[in-house]
Amino acid sequence: MKIIPIASGKGGVGKTTLALNLALALSRQYQTVLIDLDAGTSSLRNFLQMKIGKDIYHFLKKGHPLEKCLVGLDRSLDPENLFAGFRMLASPRNFISDIVNLNYQLKAKLIRGINHLRADYVILDIKAGIDEQVLDFLPITNTGILVFTPKMKAATITAAEMVRAVLFRVCRILMKPKALKLDSGKTLSSKDLQMLVSVVDRLEDVYNRRVPNFDHFFLQVEERFPETRIIPRLKRFVSNFRVNFVLNQFDGIETSAENIIRPFVEHLNSLVSANLAPTNLGWVVYHEDIRNSSEDALPYLIMQQYRRKPKISGQDRIEAELRELMGVKKKSLTSRSPNPSIESGSNEVTRQLDVLRRMVVRGASQDPEANFDFVVARLQALGKSSIHHCGMNRILSPQEIRNIFYT
Ligand SMILES: Nc1ncnc2c1ncn2[C@@H]1O[C@H](COP(=O)(O)OP(=O)(O)OP(=O)(O)O)[C@@H](O)[C@H]1O
Ligand SMILES: [Mg+2]
Repeated sequence: MKIIPIASGKGGVGKTTLALNLALALSRQYQTVLIDLDAGTSSLRNFLQMKIGKDIYHFLKKGHPLEKCLVGLDRSLDPENLFAGFRMLASPRNFISDIVNLNYQLKAKLIRGINHLRADYVILDIKAGIDEQVLDFLPITNTGILVFTPKMKAATITAAEMVRAVLFRVCRILMKPKALKLDSGKTLSSKDLQMLVSVVDRLEDVYNRRVPNFDHFFLQVEERFPETRIIPRLKRFVSNFRVNFVLNQFDGIETSAENIIRPFVEHLNSLVSANLAPTNLGWVVYHEDIRNSSEDALPYLIMQQYRRKPKISGQDRIEAELRELMGVKKKSLTSRSPNPSIESGSNEVTRQLDVLRRMVVRGASQDPEANFDFVVARLQALGKSSIHHCGMNRILSPQEIRNIFYT
C-alpha cells in the first residue's frame, strides 16, 4: 500500500481538485481510497453530488469499522463502473469540533485505521496550514505531493517551511531524553543533550541567523559531538529527503519559473538545505471545466469520461514523448536529448525550467485528463525506483521513527 498526502500549506491552490482527480485516475487500475483530512470548511463531499451515508464521524465516534465507512461512487456518477477501484472516507457534513481538531486518541485511531486499510493507493487530502494535524500525517522521507499554482507565489515559502517542519519534527522526536541510552558508543550526557537541543532551538528560531538551515546545524553539531552516531544518520536523512510537486493551473513557462520554480528552489536551499532539489511530478493546466466541476459537484474526470470527446490528432505521440521526457518510459537507444543542459544537472533551477520548456515546445497536452494520467504514470515509475520517493507504506508513530533511527 502506498499512502500519498496532497499538501501545500497554503489554501486554495488545488489540493482537493488534485487529490480527487488523481484518486479517480488511479482507481481505473488500482484499489484507491481517498481520505478527507480537511474536515473544516473545504469538505471533499461538496465536490461530489451524491448521498454519503457513513463518514469519518461514524468511524471515530460511533465505533464502525473504517472499511464500512468508505463509500464508492454512486451508480448515477459512474454507470459503467469505470472507476470501480474508487472509495472515499468523507468528513462530516457539518462542523464537529472533535473531528476538525483531533485529540491524541482520535488521531492515533485514525492513523491505525488508515494503516490497516486494504488498498493499493491511499490519497490524503490535507488541509491548509502547518500544524500537528498536518505534520503527523506526512511521510518522513519525502513530502508526498506539494501543490503549487503560479497565481500564488507565497505558497512556495510556506511549502519550504513545511519541509523544514517535517525535518524538525523528526529531530525533536529523536532528541527525547529516552533516546539517550540508545546512542551507542559513548553515552551522551544530559548536559550534552541539552546542548544539542539548544542548537535545534536556534535552528528553529528563524530570527537567529547563526543557524540558518540544516547545513549550518550539521556543521556545528558534527564538531561539537563527533562521537554521536545519530548526527551522521540525521545528515544522510536530510540530504536524501525528496521534495515532489505538481504545478496546478499551469499557464506557461515564464510565470511558473518566476512564481514557483525559482523562489521554491531558493527557499528550500536557504531555509532547509542546499542539498535539496524538488522533483516535478507533472502539471495540470487551467481549465474552465475544472473550475465548473467544483461548482457543479461533478469531478472533472467523471465529467470528461461521459462526454466522449474525440482525441486530438497526434495526441498519442505527444503523450508518448512526454512520458519519455519525464522518465516514465525508458529512452530508446536512438533518442537523444535535444538540450544538453538537461544532462549536466549542474543547476537545479535551469534543469527544472528545461523540463517545463520542453513540455511546452513539444506541445505539452492541454488536456487535464492527460495531465492527471501523467501524474499517475510518474507515481508508478517512482514507486518502482524507491518506496521512499513519494508517499509511505504506513504512517509512522514517534516510537516507530525512533526505532528506525536507533537500531
Ligand atoms: N486546474 C484548474 N483549473 C481551473 N480551476 C481550478 C483548477 N484547480 C483548481 N481550480 C479551482 O480552484 C478552486 C480551489 O481549488 P481546491 O478547492 O481544489 O483548492 P484547495 O487547495 O483544496 O483549497 P482549500 O485549501 O480551501 O482546501 C476551486 O474552485 C477549483 O475548482
Ligand atoms: Mg481542499
